[in-house]
Amino acid sequence: MRLTVNGRVHDVTVRDDETLLELLRERLALTGTKLTCDRGECGACTVQLDDATVYSCLTLAVACDGAAVRTVEGLAPPGTLSPLQQAFIAHDAAQCGYCTPGQLVAAQALLDRNASPTEEEIRAAMSGNLCRCGTYPKIVTAIRAAAGTESGTAEETIRGA
Ligand code: FES
Ligand code: FES
Repeated sequence: MRLTVNGRVHDVTVRDDETLLELLRERLALTGTKLTCDRGECGACTVQLDDATVYSCLTLAVACDGAAVRTVEGLAPPGTLSPLQQAFIAHDAAQCGYCTPGQLVAAQALLDRNASPTEEEIRAAMSGNLCRCGTYPKIVTAIRAAAGTESGTAEETIRGA
């Protein structure tokens, strides 16, 4: 099968039961995408598959033949950070950081289809991505900042949450 990952074409032979997450992490060495629940509940493994975001732990690699995949490594050129990634840092939107790659991919997909999302739209779009550290208010603030719609500081958002 052939797929394009972060703009690079890969020709690979995959097992029938191999997941996209396994292919990315174990064979293409793209370890930014995280394995956590392995059953479609947390969103840590979120990647973009063509125009949709998917849980790569639940996506068979063979189903991605001909597709374009974007992982967290593809959000910005190597050695640089996208405005969204910079906003996550500026607004302290990661604690342990384990959920962060999936959060970033889901958030970037949202901003790509809606450049100025409301807080309600952000919360709806990010509802498939869990954060055990509870950084949700800061994640919303960071996304709003990246979109240029930030209305307050992270601390203000937390107080209002
Ligand atoms: S690891 Fe895929 S949804 Fe949790
Ligand atoms: S920052 Fe720790 S799980 Fe989200």
